[in-house]
Amino acid sequence: MDTAPTPFRFDADAWSVDEKDFPAEGSNADRLHFCLNYAVLAPSCFNTQPWFFRLTGAALELFADRSRRLPMADPDGRALMIACGAALFNLRCALRYLGLQPKITLLPWLNDGDPLSGSEVPLARIELDGTCTCPAAERVLFQAIRRRRTYLGAFDPAPISQNLIDALQDQARHEGAWLGMLEDAEAKADVSRIVATADRIQLTQRKYRAELAKWVRRAAHLVPPMPPGVLQLGPHGEFALPFGAFLDPDLSGQAGTDLIESTPLIGVLGADGDSPIDWLRSGQALQRTVLWARAAGVWASFLNQPIALPESRIQVAHLLDRNHPMLLIRFGRVPPPAPSRALRSARYVIGN
Ligand SMILES: Cc1cc2nc3c(=O)[nH]c(=O)nc-3n(C[C@H](O)[C@H](O)[C@H](O)COP(=O)(O)O)c2cc1C
Repeated sequence: MDTAPTPFRFDADAWSVDEKDFPAEGSNADRLHFCLNYAVLAPSCFNTQPWFFRLTGAALELFADRSRRLPMADPDGRALMIACGAALFNLRCALRYLGLQPKITLLPWLNDGDPLSGSEVPLARIELDGTCTCPAAERVLFQAIRRRRTYLGAFDPAPISQNLIDALQDQARHEGAWLGMLEDAEAKADVSRIVATADRIQLTQRKYRAELAKWVRRAAHLVPPMPPGVLQLGPHGEFALPFGAFLDPDLSGQAGTDLIESTPLIGVLGADGDSPIDWLRSGQALQRTVLWARAAGVWASFLNQPIALPESRIQVAHLLDRNHPMLLIRFGRVPPPAPSRALRSARYVIGN
């Protein structure tokens, strides 16, 4: 019998997925397949969507698609794994919301110390293990999956409540990660300086700019298309990646500085280790945290530049006196007028 894995490719606009279409009476394979629609709504660096899934019998396998690596922006492949972890969280969340208990094995075929190599790296095996009743708090996370977008513009500077800050930190902890918070002006000024320096270092590298252009050009094929001019923010920051927000025409860096310093809350997500499994856990924690925020009306935006460069990553670690920071997150509410459209539609690639 031919047991070759079945590849999937979703080309439809996945943001329009509707839980009413869940094939409750279908096979396990059908039900897992349906939940992939939620997995692919996860964020990813440069919108590379570096995951793909295979359904083999009644189990689903998540792979890192290393052909979508970013050698300049993400030399260690850390952000790639974080994105895959975020997709895995969406999948887990959708399965439980729909009453299916997932059994997840992380890095199923990797022995301790094995390098992650090859173009297709298996990250997780997902099986169904009976049914479950999804608690209210998780239902809230599920409902936020379709409403989450990375918000690239300036936030309303009104502070975020301590209750919400505590809840966000709980979400990260729940997935085995930590979330440090920077709120005071001095800390934000430090972050802004660190990001600006990292941004400039990256943007002066020709290969980095080529990588950015390559992925943004790919994004131009999305519907609706991402307009050109990625090195500038649009009126609300929409459609333009704030990579290069510090590269003003006059090189003053004021746009990037304002963006960071007006943010009410900057989170630093981190883990206790820096191995692929920590990256995967951080990705799940990232998604859980930003979904919780979104459910509370708070948007998130990410800053990877200072994590990609070893020297600036150490500076970020010093800000919180904690090792292994994985990603900086800007949190805030969107000032009126709220964006009238979903920031960007996307999604497609799963499988090859
Ligand atoms: C690990 C990781 C790092 C990211 N780094 C950045 C970043 O440095 N700057 C940025 O603007 N967006 C960053 N993003 C967000 C992506 O640009 C965004 O997720 C992607 O464009 C898809 O858009 P969406 O999140 O609205 O679906 C990052 C996302 C992830 C998961």
